[in-house]
Amino acid sequence: MAEALRLGVAGLGTVGGSLVRLLERHGNEFAVRNGRRVRITSVCARDRSRDRGFDISAYTWFDDPVDMAASDEIDVFVELMGGADGVAHGSVKQALKAGKHVVTANKALLATHGNALAELADEIGVSLNFEAAAAGGIPVIKTMREALSGNNVSRVYGILNGTCNYILTRMEHEGLTFDACLAEAQRLGYAEADPAFDIGGQDTAHKLALLTAIAFGTRVELDSIYVEGITSVTPADIVAADELGYRIKLLGVANRTETGIEQRVHLAMVPKSSVLARVEGVTNAVAVDGDFVGQLVLSGPGAGGEATASAVAADIADLARGDRMSTFGRPASTLEPYRRAAMRRHAGGYYVRLSVYDRPGAFAAIAKRMAEADISLESIVQRARAPRTAAPSHMEPEAPQPVILVTYETTEKAIRDALAAILGDGHIADGPQMIRIENLD
Ligand code: HSE
Repeated sequence: MAEALRLGVAGLGTVGGSLVRLLERHGNEFAVRNGRRVRITSVCARDRSRDRGFDISAYTWFDDPVDMAASDEIDVFVELMGGADGVAHGSVKQALKAGKHVVTANKALLATHGNALAELADEIGVSLNFEAAAAGGIPVIKTMREALSGNNVSRVYGILNGTCNYILTRMEHEGLTFDACLAEAQRLGYAEADPAFDIGGQDTAHKLALLTAIAFGTRVELDSIYVEGITSVTPADIVAADELGYRIKLLGVANRTETGIEQRVHLAMVPKSSVLARVEGVTNAVAVDGDFVGQLVLSGPGAGGEATASAVAADIADLARGDRMSTFGRPASTLEPYRRAAMRRHAGGYYVRLSVYDRPGAFAAIAKRMAEADISLESIVQRARAPRTAAPSHMEPEAPQPVILVTYETTEKAIRDALAAILGDGHIADGPQMIRIENLD
């Protein structure tokens, strides 16, 4: 058997620790399967003395990952530290320049610097693999980069953040508020250290940026993604979705349109009968529409140390076998410039919840604004907050009532224009809630 492939692991947190345990447990079988032994020779983390539940004395310790990246003791630099810039970026660049293969779980790094790093990897002739960076344990990068390489992909979309899906599922099943569910997700360790990236949609955007580049053969374009998070969702929206036959999910969607590629992250109403509606809790799911394969859906654990280490090990296995593929599935120099489709042209149905003052003419004014924007309404429902026996008299206060509208297909520009006009008319108490309807199979 060839000499062992030597790994330097930077970052010994949840994922790094799980990788050490995986190689301890399955190292022999791994060597037989891939025809080459794999051995951790070096490690690097923030705190050398921390008790991690495994012995690191057999490995060479580095205080600085940039030094480890250039060390003669390693063939592969395994980056499990995280962060778009700083030491993660510096050490990965250093490793590539020193002719080391890189395996990383760092979506923020690749979403931000992926184009330049992929070019550098190609120039040096080494691999930059990132299976663990998108959807954790789900082998979606390998599937898209290799198994679907005979397809022209028209759309890739999915539930790419476990924390958000957990919160939305709990709100639906338990009738809890957003804040209560977020606190629970943090207690259970699903959310990132700073949950703002999870609930603000940026974590999903990082993953979507990578999937888009592979799906469409374009350069990574994080800044062109339209991003909304999930903080505006209320129990009233969850109940209304259920009654209308939908579930609310945070989706990342990239699809080809006539004017370019749409990349968007936002809450969406998905039909209860769709595959994605049934994805619950911290589970992730990714769907790809290919012209020959049709639709493919992969689902599984999107986070967690062991699932993510499983994806890191898959990248290491490729290197042990000597399989090299360009980072985004084609030479970086052939990635096409990204052509962005304007979000205002996005076409679809919309759910709108308004808090309308209960006064004569309010409905008529809302309907008029919708008609002026050329929007056709599928339904409009007023929900009385409390049973009332007669129409309000002039003496009664105009308590706002929830009103729910569902539109037929229209454009983002039309709905935004209509809602701005409705707000300006002064018949609604708060800003409108608007959730896009995504008609998935
Ligand atoms: N915090 C992420 C999630 C996991 O909740 O899905 C890693 O991206």
